[in-house]
Amino acid sequence: MYNEIDLDKIDINSEPPTEEPVRQYYFMAKCRRYVTELAKELGRKPTFFVQTFGCQMNARDSEKLTGILEQVGYAQAESEEADFVIYNTCTVRENANNKVWGRLGYLNGYKKEHPHMKIALCGCMMQEAEVIEKLRKSYRFVDLVFGTHNIYKFAELLTGSFTQKKMLIDIWNDTERIVENLPVERKYNFKSGVNIMFGCNNFCSYCIVPYVRGRERSRRPEDILEEIKKLARDGVAEIMLLGQNVNSYGKNLPEPVTFAELLMKIEEVEGIERIRFMTSHPKDLSDELIKVMADSRKICNHLHLPLQSGSSRILKKMNRQYDKEQYLALADKIRRAVPDLALTTDIIVGFPGETEEDFEETMDVVRRVGYDSAFTFIYSKRTGTPAAAMEDQVPEDVVKERFDRLLKEVQRIAAKRAEALTGRTEQVLVEEVNAQDKTLVTGRMGNNFVVHFPGTEHLIGRIVNVKLKECKGFYFYGEMTV
Ligand code: 5AD
Ligand code: SF4
Repeated sequence: MYNEIDLDKIDINSEPPTEEPVRQYYFMAKCRRYVTELAKELGRKPTFFVQTFGCQMNARDSEKLTGILEQVGYAQAESEEADFVIYNTCTVRENANNKVWGRLGYLNGYKKEHPHMKIALCGCMMQEAEVIEKLRKSYRFVDLVFGTHNIYKFAELLTGSFTQKKMLIDIWNDTERIVENLPVERKYNFKSGVNIMFGCNNFCSYCIVPYVRGRERSRRPEDILEEIKKLARDGVAEIMLLGQNVNSYGKNLPEPVTFAELLMKIEEVEGIERIRFMTSHPKDLSDELIKVMADSRKICNHLHLPLQSGSSRILKKMNRQYDKEQYLALADKIRRAVPDLALTTDIIVGFPGETEEDFEETMDVVRRVGYDSAFTFIYSKRTGTPAAAMEDQVPEDVVKERFDRLLKEVQRIAAKRAEALTGRTEQVLVEEVNAQDKTLVTGRMGNNFVVHFPGTEHLIGRIVNVKLKECKGFYFYGEMTV
């Protein structure tokens, strides 16, 4: 936990400082006073529960919220039956929004029985004007609403919600600002996500992300490296560099740096054993990056390279800026340069105007690339994106039928590729004791496949050699070797 500013030394009766992050530490100190009062009323430490929806970026944001909540005196609860519940929302597809509306109904019921309870909503869904409208009208029981751009102000907003009894809403449309050195509480001791950039400039025509996460901005390499060195000192062995499009990292910095250059610097950090990153846009994946991956000892042999569609015609309508042939050539180049590379992808089925021929092109790429795993999605219309206004939305039953066909093919190929690894010995980072069978531990190989093998809790966080004995499709059973 980051704890360089001692909250006890802050004078909370003085005016709040204007500079960051000191201002937020001031509000943490102030907020702690309210939480202490609440603890007295309750006769125990108040509890919190953060529910994360969506991607790894949101998961990392939730760790930041958790860090602050623990600093101000809340204790983590196991469920939503807590004194303070936060939903960190996603809006990439319609069903992500639906989940939040559904669960809010349940929370309302719980709050009626526990009136002191606080509810906060944040994340991508809150950046949509119609969501805020609906909350104002029909969800008055929510206490605090903020978005993706001002999450660094959480301590200040939380303090505000203690003094203001009605719903507090603070949504920004964009920001250039990146605030460093706020507290963060990691979910795992041995691995951590590290944001390297925020936002996205690509405007793929189906995607709401650029509207809710704003324009691309990169953290300074020295700040990233400092954070990673600190993580290494804390015993973190694996880091996952996070960004909407990590391949365009550094372009907007005063002194531009490429993603490959950043990786080379991170490679030198002692104690870091594994480096992963997410997500790569095919149009920006450079030869320089492929070379760095091929030469690196630490970068994992896994690349997530979203395809979205195999049809050049649809890719054009999606504004992806590559075609089928270019994608295939890239996949081929990187597979040849990086031995044993696991390639994974994202695919959307049923983009407006997708014909059976277009869909067959996607199936063709799936077969030719041979993905080790793929996330498949049914196209979801997002208000405000160019694709939402396109004609020829594909009928639901047609999409569903294609989706099922694609999923089957993806699973068949992935299982075949996994099967071929059986018998090998792989380095595995042990993550947890197996939930179902306590005599087993579960770990992940560099290629991101999961293996269960006999072991005990003390192996957690260590990298060990495991022989893969039996393939179960998406995971393995194995045995530790020396
Ligand atoms: N509909 C369906 N899937 C989408 N994705 C992004 N926007 C949409 C949408 N409107 C998928 C893409 C992206 C992943 C994170 O989510 O495949 O890579
Ligand atoms: Fe969305 Fe495209 Fe940006 Fe990914 S790269 S977040 S799909 S706009």
